[in-house]
Amino acid sequence: MQVGYKYKYNYMKTMKKSLVAASLLLLVTLSASAQISITIDANKPGAVINKDIYGQFAEHLGAGIYGGMWVGPDSTIPNTRGWRNDVVGALKNLHVPVVRWPGGCFADEYHWREGIGDRSTRPVKVNTNWGNVTESNAVGTHEFFDLIDQIGAEAYINGNLGSGTAQEMAEWLEYMTSDSKSTLAELRRKNGHAAPFKIAYFAIGNEAWGCGGNMTVQHFTDLYNQYASFAKTPREDTPKFIASGGHDDDTSWSDYLTAHIHPQWNMHFDAISFHYYTLPTGMWEKKGAATGFTEDQWISTLKNAMRIDTLIKNNVAKMDKNDPAKKVAFDIDEWGTWYSVEPGTNPGFLFQRNTIRDALVAALNFNIFHAHADRVRMTNIAQMVNVLQSMIVTDNDKMLLTPTYYAYQLYVPFQNATVLPLQIQHNPQYKFGATSIPEVSASAARAQDGKLVLSLVNTNPEKSVELEVSVPGVSISSLQGHVLSANKMDAVNTFDHPDTVQPVPYNVAAQKGKLIVTLPPMSVAVFSATDRSN
Ligand code: AHR
Repeated sequence: MQVGYKYKYNYMKTMKKSLVAASLLLLVTLSASAQISITIDANKPGAVINKDIYGQFAEHLGAGIYGGMWVGPDSTIPNTRGWRNDVVGALKNLHVPVVRWPGGCFADEYHWREGIGDRSTRPVKVNTNWGNVTESNAVGTHEFFDLIDQIGAEAYINGNLGSGTAQEMAEWLEYMTSDSKSTLAELRRKNGHAAPFKIAYFAIGNEAWGCGGNMTVQHFTDLYNQYASFAKTPREDTPKFIASGGHDDDTSWSDYLTAHIHPQWNMHFDAISFHYYTLPTGMWEKKGAATGFTEDQWISTLKNAMRIDTLIKNNVAKMDKNDPAKKVAFDIDEWGTWYSVEPGTNPGFLFQRNTIRDALVAALNFNIFHAHADRVRMTNIAQMVNVLQSMIVTDNDKMLLTPTYYAYQLYVPFQNATVLPLQIQHNPQYKFGATSIPEVSASAARAQDGKLVLSLVNTNPEKSVELEVSVPGVSISSLQGHVLSANKMDAVNTFDHPDTVQPVPYNVAAQKGKLIVTLPPMSVAVFSATDRSN
């Protein structure tokens, strides 16, 4: 009896506990499955998303230029004046707005005079930054401007502050932009370009804290003021001048530069640059693999990518203090994933494979850049072809488009669109181990054609998410768009299977006045809609 009572008592206690647990579970499940909703405010237009946020970077590094884009006019690979037709065509389709050249670290060892005139007599150098390979100087100023003309992009030239003189920089600018009868302008004409080249952006130095000269910010600032004083260009066609800035968690460059270079002194100073790379482990010594990774590095990579939001906020806070009118832009001219080098490739060539994870990294960054569009006016992913998080991979005459290419393609309607504020309600956390990130990332804007554009990212590689989209006061009957997804976390496009990761059309019709979108696991979707307020 005693035993029975005890048993009964324990049974009741256990039952009670289970009931409590079950109701808690029900509550948790109910709240976790509450409808995720996105509410867009179409009446409060924000900043314009400068098209140059979708900029690219092409450095003399590995097969980034030689082989990947430039094959020379005598190549059997179809080309126009040396530039591959297949690659140029793909970049044209991507609406690349601006290309940064010639580096990177390479820029601070680049001497422009070695890259003009007869190609057969140009000095041959060693690319000491990237694999100590031969640099033929076949691609120089005229070839670069021909490339961007073919693509339909603008030029972002990075000047050499680290190992070049103020005079060399001033003369390069004169050579490119002067319409006078000066000897340098005449030399440009003799070399085949009668009209001045148009430069949209010009950077003075690159990573001055590192490969660009290992300087203190104070020393760099003095040099910037000096070099910028002599950087003369036609008044009506002046590029935006960029001071090489900081990186990662270091905000001191943003602070010091904006406090000590004053645009009102008539000094060319339109932006500071910033570099941030996404490493799966966060450690440079052991970055993490591009493929064959497990879910812990899926989530850590996305989480590390999203850190750019905090980094921008921290830097912008310093800039707001010194430049409250927001004259100076915060241009992130190097960003993207950087993995352990692909086994069997030259470590100096920074070649890595590109998966659906890279497409999500790109999309998460875009959504964050849009949110800071009032300060972030240009970014350049590293890099355009065959290097780091590239758009395109080539192998001799073959070419393939990466998942990152398709992320850029989906976001084209955001170029020069106007940000619309949005709220995400009941956004669950996607968790793996001790790490968690929001499951949904989103951004909305009014595109130049008047349509409403919405981008959505589902960071969860296992689960689809359903969400309701609404625009109060506006009726939308359908969303037309595309979704990019894959069936495994490291899905890649290969030369044999180039279409494994590709956007597919995805349209959503309103049902009983509701727009319900189901995002597949690990996906990026971009939709447009015509609303009645147009
Ligand atoms: O993008 C590769 C290199 O990374 C660039 O040359 C340099 O600026 C950065 O360290």
